[in-house]
Amino acid sequence: MESAGGTVLGKNDIKVGLDIGSNQIHVVVCERDEDYNLNIIGVGSGPSAGLRRGVIVDMDSAAAAIADAVAHAEEMSGCAAVSVLASASGTHVSSIASRGVVAIGRSDREVTQEDVDSVLEAARVVAIPPDREVVHVLPREFVIDGCSGIRKPVGMTGIRLEVDASIITGSATAIQNIHRSARRIGLEVEHVILQPIAAAEAVLTLSEKEQGALVIDMGGATTDIAVCIEGGVHHVASIPVGGNHVTNDIALVMRLPVGYSEGLKLNYGSALPDMVGENESCGADTNISRKKLCQIIEARITETMELVGDELDRARYRDLLPAGVVVTGGASVMQGVVEVAQEVLGLPARLGVPVGVYGAEEALDNPQYATAVGLVKSVWSESAVIPSADGRRPKSGGFASEVRQWFRDIFSS
Ligand SMILES: Nc1ncnc2c1ncn2[C@@H]1O[C@H](COP(=O)(O)OP(=O)(O)OP(=O)(O)O)[C@@H](O)[C@H]1O
Ligand SMILES: [Mg+2]
Repeated sequence: MESAGGTVLGKNDIKVGLDIGSNQIHVVVCERDEDYNLNIIGVGSGPSAGLRRGVIVDMDSAAAAIADAVAHAEEMSGCAAVSVLASASGTHVSSIASRGVVAIGRSDREVTQEDVDSVLEAARVVAIPPDREVVHVLPREFVIDGCSGIRKPVGMTGIRLEVDASIITGSATAIQNIHRSARRIGLEVEHVILQPIAAAEAVLTLSEKEQGALVIDMGGATTDIAVCIEGGVHHVASIPVGGNHVTNDIALVMRLPVGYSEGLKLNYGSALPDMVGENESCGADTNISRKKLCQIIEARITETMELVGDELDRARYRDLLPAGVVVTGGASVMQGVVEVAQEVLGLPARLGVPVGVYGAEEALDNPQYATAVGLVKSVWSESAVIPSADGRRPKSGGFASEVRQWFRDIFSS
């Protein structure tokens, strides 16, 4: 099975995003046309299996669940998946600050993309324990001949290029289990990308990314956050609380089975109990108070947002987010979550669905697909500002953002 253009899926201009969540697996098949438009041509989802707190602990079950979701996306797109971009949970990641330095050797002293790659490679060379693997190198700023605060050094001139970077490492076993599970069903994992980094790529607009914004991805087992400043992710963290804890609270407090509690949450849940009447019940044939249900939900969502706030304070990012908060992920769909985030964090908040892509509405209108869409956007976003082989640039904002960057770099230098 191949796509209409004869392109083997997962190579060239078609990419597959595979978000392995602890509750759900989401897959998108995305095609990039000659004008650099991203078009979702296939989606698939299914219940996840073999994961504990976001990490694969049973490869057979995980592989079967992945195969199922991928098969749906293959069927819809009419393509066969060969390689995928896979998400990794943020629960086992940690961050180390690092610095890289290279000399610009050529006679014109102009910084090229190869120099940037080399300096990032130099920053990557840090001693990490054998049970850890580098997942991302996040550049915070570049420095050319002592001139700091540079975001995009390509095209500038100098003798010495430095980078200040965060090296994000993850558990080697957890990362390898993603590769191995995919390989069991004949899929090669091209890149592993952290869930919050992918979610941020999917839901933030260019201007939010540049002004400074926080993405909160509320999933089942975890709430992952990414802080985006000056166009790039500067900080990620994972809080081990998600939508499943809301369900468990309902089950515990109301002494109900977990499955039934999940149904109540989905059908009658809201994080705004003040909007619910004293006498409202959850359905005609129950005497369960809807107000009480919503009070339980509000308590857990408030606590989760307070934990997010604590993390922002700990990492000292709270004052750097003028564009506010974007809440996404399956648990963000609940009525009132955005309002609680805004109230607790004291920042403007909105719901995040994938932006800057076209095609299948199932993915575009749905926060649950944010990470899967972000996986493919992440690998293509770099190329969005690099001219293609024939010198053409993408239609969508690449040049404008370079001009803005150029101004910023001039004024910050
Ligand atoms: N309409 C809804 N209202 C409230 N909660 C919802 C709704 N739809 C899904 N959820 C909740 O969202 C959670 C799952 O979200 P999601 O699919 O993003 O998780 P995941 O990506 O599998 O998990 P994780 O990111 O933690 O690994 C579950 O707790 C589920 O109950
Ligand atoms: Mg998720």
